[in-house]
Amino acid sequence: MINESKAKLTATSDIILNVSNLVVSFETEKGRVKAVDGAGFKLKKGATLGIVGESGCGKSVTALAIMGLLPKPSGRIESGTIEFKSEDMVPLMGKQGEMHKIRGRQISMIFQEPMTALNPVQKIGVQMNEVYQLHFPLMKSHDMDNASISMLAQVGIASPDKVIRQYPHELSGGMRQRVMIAMALSSKPDILIADEPTTALDVTVQAQILDMINDLQAKLGMSVIIITHDLGVIAENCDDAVVMYGGRVAERAAVPDLFSNPVHPYTQGLLKSIPGFATTPKSTLPTIKGQVPSLDKMPSGCRFSNRCDHVMEICRSAVPLETEPAKGHFVACHKY
Ligand SMILES: Nc1ncnc2c1ncn2[C@@H]1O[C@H](COP(=O)(O)OP(=O)(O)OP(=O)(O)O)[C@@H](O)[C@H]1O
Ligand SMILES: [Mg+2]
Repeated sequence: MINESKAKLTATSDIILNVSNLVVSFETEKGRVKAVDGAGFKLKKGATLGIVGESGCGKSVTALAIMGLLPKPSGRIESGTIEFKSEDMVPLMGKQGEMHKIRGRQISMIFQEPMTALNPVQKIGVQMNEVYQLHFPLMKSHDMDNASISMLAQVGIASPDKVIRQYPHELSGGMRQRVMIAMALSSKPDILIADEPTTALDVTVQAQILDMINDLQAKLGMSVIIITHDLGVIAENCDDAVVMYGGRVAERAAVPDLFSNPVHPYTQGLLKSIPGFATTPKSTLPTIKGQVPSLDKMPSGCRFSNRCDHVMEICRSAVPLETEPAKGHFVACHKY
């Protein structure tokens, strides 16, 4: 189940993206709330990092912050650093030109809902050429068409020369997602962020898309961040994993370590809720009691404290700092 061979491959690689103490806030009717509150993790060059957690834990907001695409003016980075190839991008976020160069060209993102990201009234080929025009302005339009066709073929589209003349609604959900991936890859990025790339698709297509991302990653030498609420996706596709809860990182480790020795009570709860992982076929799946509180009602101290079976007095008042109970295995919990 766990992809150990890939994990070994990346053991000596460098860090391409280093997010540290990231705090992102939004202005809401209830005042300014922190959607991400001190998150940090590292992405290794050529590796796949999975970010997992329940709905609302800050996965997409973290990705948007990395892309410099937080909705303005309500969203902003309060503090923290996002180092891409050792350069902090946060100070560049205000300078449109600089961020623009990094965003599309070196870090690409596939969004949660492909239909909203594609323009419904423009043919696929025209939309793909726009990406080339943006990043490679000297490219001839004939070469753009050929590049689009070749990219569509690489993402497994059978008749790419026909597809470039079609509109998004003429394609299936899986094909649209493949087009989105082709567009994201056409700038030859160093990092691909895939935000729940498969949630809208059926199970077989989901597996095909994830396999394809893995293949392309090996071929193009990219680093990948896969955002998901599904630990199975992490187990099968990622080298390293970050478990988020309430806008913070609860635990992060190499995937084999996280699955064989989860230490945060939240991670343990998530793992127990996977069918077949810690249950016999007939037992009912345990779920984590309670619900994620809304951002304006987050407990002070540990944000998981109101749902945790191991809660202690200190958890209700002090934010747990990250410790490293085993090499490369980090946890933010007062138990450690
Ligand atoms: N534009 C916004 N204005 C105010 N709050 C926001 C905004 N965007 C996101 N949030 C809040 O930030 C928190 C994190 O949202 P985010 O979209 O990152 O969650 P997620 O982990 O991606 O969830 P899902 O699995 O449902 O996609 C949520 O509480 C959400 O309501
Ligand atoms: Mg999301």
